[in-house]
Amino acid sequence: MIPQSFIQDLLARVDIVEVVERYLPLKKGGANYFACCPFHGEKSASFSVSPTKQFYHCFGCGVHGSAISFLMEYSGLGFIDAVKELASSVGMEVPQDDFTPNHDRARDQSLTEVMAQAARFYKEQLKRSPIAIDYLKRRGLSGEIAARYGIGFAPEGWQALQAAFPDYTAASLLECGLVLENEQGRRYDRFRDRIMFPIQDQRGNVIGFGGRVLGKGEPKYLNSPETPIFEKGRELYGLVQARQAVRDQECVLVVEGYMDVVGLAQFGVGNAVATLGTAATPHHIQKLLRLTDRVVFCFDGDAAGRRAAGRALEVSLEHLADNKTLSFLFLPEEHDPDSFVRAEGPDAFRSAMNRALPLAEFLLAELKKDIDLGTAEGCARLVHEAKPLVTRIGAPLLRLQVIKMLAETAGFTQAEVEQSFGLKNASAQPRRFDEAPPFEGNFERGGFDRDFGGGFGNNGNFRGKRRQGSGFPRMPPRQAPQTAVETLLKLVVQHPLWAARLPIDLLPHDTPEGRALIALTDAMSVGELPTHGIGALLEHYRETPHAEILARMAGLLADTTFEDASIEPLFNDTVKKLEADAVSREIDALNARERENGLNPAERRQLAELLLHKQKLRTRPKASDS
Ligand code: UTP
Ligand code: MN
Repeated sequence: MIPQSFIQDLLARVDIVEVVERYLPLKKGGANYFACCPFHGEKSASFSVSPTKQFYHCFGCGVHGSAISFLMEYSGLGFIDAVKELASSVGMEVPQDDFTPNHDRARDQSLTEVMAQAARFYKEQLKRSPIAIDYLKRRGLSGEIAARYGIGFAPEGWQALQAAFPDYTAASLLECGLVLENEQGRRYDRFRDRIMFPIQDQRGNVIGFGGRVLGKGEPKYLNSPETPIFEKGRELYGLVQARQAVRDQECVLVVEGYMDVVGLAQFGVGNAVATLGTAATPHHIQKLLRLTDRVVFCFDGDAAGRRAAGRALEVSLEHLADNKTLSFLFLPEEHDPDSFVRAEGPDAFRSAMNRALPLAEFLLAELKKDIDLGTAEGCARLVHEAKPLVTRIGAPLLRLQVIKMLAETAGFTQAEVEQSFGLKNASAQPRRFDEAPPFEGNFERGGFDRDFGGGFGNNGNFRGKRRQGSGFPRMPPRQAPQTAVETLLKLVVQHPLWAARLPIDLLPHDTPEGRALIALTDAMSVGELPTHGIGALLEHYRETPHAEILARMAGLLADTTFEDASIEPLFNDTVKKLEADAVSREIDALNARERENGLNPAERRQLAELLLHKQKLRTRPKASDS
């Protein structure tokens, strides 16, 4: 087993065009590259490689896949060998099998016990080290706070842990990153002469450590490596200790360092957690928003802090909701939260927190940063650069608000900005479900999507090799009409970020397409959906029940690319269709019951409500009126 995270890193690193080019001469044609297909005999080049989708597809024989599957097919390698070959071509090393995280409960539990044992040992050692105690005191920490966070001390010496673990040769010590092994196979402690901050998971198990040097030295913090029980991108330092304060204050504060969390707690600001030396991930954001509706990110006032804030902003956009607020607090340049609270006191800190910049304002400020709004070019650029960010905002009202602010700043009308974002253009002329939508090849008349390359509208809205075929005769439908779920699945396969906005409760469990969409949505919600190309997405689902349907969708997408502007209206229309379908199904069920043995008053009321709802769905203008 090779960890999925490695496969994804690898695919993000390699370029499929370069990989294929090692074996086949490629010619550029439009956005893609072409060659004669190596997998079936042919004279014309119908084998295409897409650099943006990181995916190959043969229009002749239908083979397709990622860089990994190309190597497997072309060189006859097995999966593991293909991965190894690809990895070595870009200088990456495939992780050793014995470190592969897979979910082995018993093993995880034994690792957790090892970590707990180590944490006890380090705490005990702190009591015996006047130097370490003195260091913590000088940093203003009380014994009470040190105990609350389980702070400890890893003593000097290469094998101090031997005192805590009679079997110092146990595999688990290596596996949870407490010891290292040199080339001669000799073991030694990873953490030596450091203040130890135990990192706990949500249940309070110690899963990792951060170790700080006393005084100066490099690295300042040494952290546990990723292990089967510790993934940095998912964990937040201090969460267990902060939980009650977060509930009480209905707000969580996200800072950058261990010492910030502990220092704030020392001054009674108990609702802080820290990311672990990494940028905030979607997984973090989701975890935080499940905890509370108000998240304040606190960053150092320097350029690095600003960059980190920018990344936090980006990963938050899809997860926003209109009942949640995210804001950004920037401290004066010379401060981090720990030094600020120490210098200015907790009240000053809290009032700074209350003045934190709301996400929308920070977003606009970032966008405006290097733009001269005194010029027409500057104004146009502002809107242009805002588009990919603003259209990702998952909260409809907030997004509307941002659009208004943007329009005002750049001297456009709201409608002009919306139009340039590809939003609302359909609601300008209200239409109804039963009228022809602007996208041909839509769910009602899916049949000709084969001939027109994908079915995502052929009125100039997509680029495709076969688009020149606009003079094709329209074929009668040869396949079942494309359902709303299928449309959404295609859309999400090509643009995974949209998965974040799917209405999960409306997705059907009883079709492969519906189940695949649910799987994609789930993966998205925990930040695990690959977003760098269709090839990577297919690899993520290799050997899962969804592999086949996703490969089929990818095949359908091989020669089409959505124009950005067409995605949002299509997405919104299709979600509405889904909603309408769900309502119709319920109505049908009630009608059937009525025919059989009549309805009781409650059911009759429900039927009336459903009919009204259906009526509303019909009369509401289509597309992005949210
Ligand atoms: P900082 O360098 O801002 O440290 O790193 P700090 O939290 O202010 O610590 P003190 O006050 O100097 O003791 C912030 C975070 O970045 C990670 C750690 O998670 C740290 O808490 N970091 C920093 C590392 O992982 N390694 C390092 O060498 C430095
Ligand atoms: Mn600090």
